[in-house]
Amino acid sequence: MRRSVNMANLDRRGGLRAMDRAILRHRQRWGTPEVVGRAPGRVNLIGEHTDYNNGFVLPMALPFDTAVAARRAPEGSSTEVFSEDFGHAVLAPSTAEIDPTDWAVYLHGIHQLLHAEGFRPGPWQATIATDIPAGAGLSSSAALEVAVVSTILHLAQSERSAAQIARLCQRVDNELVGIPSGIMDQMISASALAGHACLIDCRSLRTEPYPLPENSVVAVMDTKTRRQLVDSEYSDRRSACIRAAAAMGVESLRDAELADLDRMGAELGTERRRAHHVITENRRTLDAAQAMAVGDAAVLGSLMNASHDSLRDDYEVSGFALDQIVEIARDSVGCLGARMTGGGFAGCAVALVAAEAATEFQALVAQRYRDESGLNAEIWLCEPAAGASVTPDEGVNKTLL
Ligand code: GLA
Repeated sequence: MRRSVNMANLDRRGGLRAMDRAILRHRQRWGTPEVVGRAPGRVNLIGEHTDYNNGFVLPMALPFDTAVAARRAPEGSSTEVFSEDFGHAVLAPSTAEIDPTDWAVYLHGIHQLLHAEGFRPGPWQATIATDIPAGAGLSSSAALEVAVVSTILHLAQSERSAAQIARLCQRVDNELVGIPSGIMDQMISASALAGHACLIDCRSLRTEPYPLPENSVVAVMDTKTRRQLVDSEYSDRRSACIRAAAAMGVESLRDAELADLDRMGAELGTERRRAHHVITENRRTLDAAQAMAVGDAAVLGSLMNASHDSLRDDYEVSGFALDQIVEIARDSVGCLGARMTGGGFAGCAVALVAAEAATEFQALVAQRYRDESGLNAEIWLCEPAAGASVTPDEGVNKTLL
């Protein structure tokens, strides 16, 4: 028996889901939408900083969505987007330069890349709303990208696989926003299966779903800390991995073994530690999938603990608040394992918790974290959600009113 999702403390404006708000606002601004798409945020159970090394990740989609209501606009109109959080933007496919700090960079980027591929659906109008906490490391930007691309493709009756959508969205991050991120966030948001975490081979993009072990739940713990300059730290780690792979003579760290580390010169001490994390993390991720296959929550939890320690000590991407909440979680009733999740430095940690203790765990961790840090963590008990979907017009009218 598994607990159902505790969404009690999710800030839903006006008590409405992102999808309902997107529809309502679209109606107010542009009239009834033809389609409504949604894509979820994610939490990664294990396999951190492995995706851009062609390795393995084991994320699941969260029950928090970004939603996009859209319709085709008459020929000659402009393609426009309205975001509940950021306001209005007009998208021009031929704009040469995009300001990477503009909130609408993701939308301009999608529009430009699709246009460059010869995709010319005619003008459209879209309205965006989200329930994914921003800057928390739960992939709100990947969800935005995947939701917009899925919706616009559907509107134009153009079919693409989840992997194709994820690759296109990753190009927006890499080429236009200027962040050399891997494929994990977009891939899980596009392809997740409800009730399952998903082992993704980031080289082949093969995915394998695994249910959470019986009687366990996933707690996502937002430390409420945010950090600037994470992008430069991320790029720095990625470069170190490339240097490490070159020094060992492998195409990427996915292809390296622990024994290969001996081939690295003494001057590459930092690179060796980074590579040590990636090589061991890939192994832990495959072992975690194996543990899930046989429903072994204890082994999964201990692998999550080892992952955190490696990220903290070898990869050096944890942070004070993340270490603090992970330690508190590990000390609390029902905890099977806890670790930072996502890019790191601030934002969220994740714990695997025995279902019968989950509510008590949630209250105790929040209380102790508040006592020790003065911050009000938000802790959500989550079931794995489904990946992106688009509802055509018949569905829209049933959804509301
Ligand atoms: C961020 C990136 C992902 C991945 C994680 C670390 O979330 O967007 O591609 O690299 O960091 O695992």
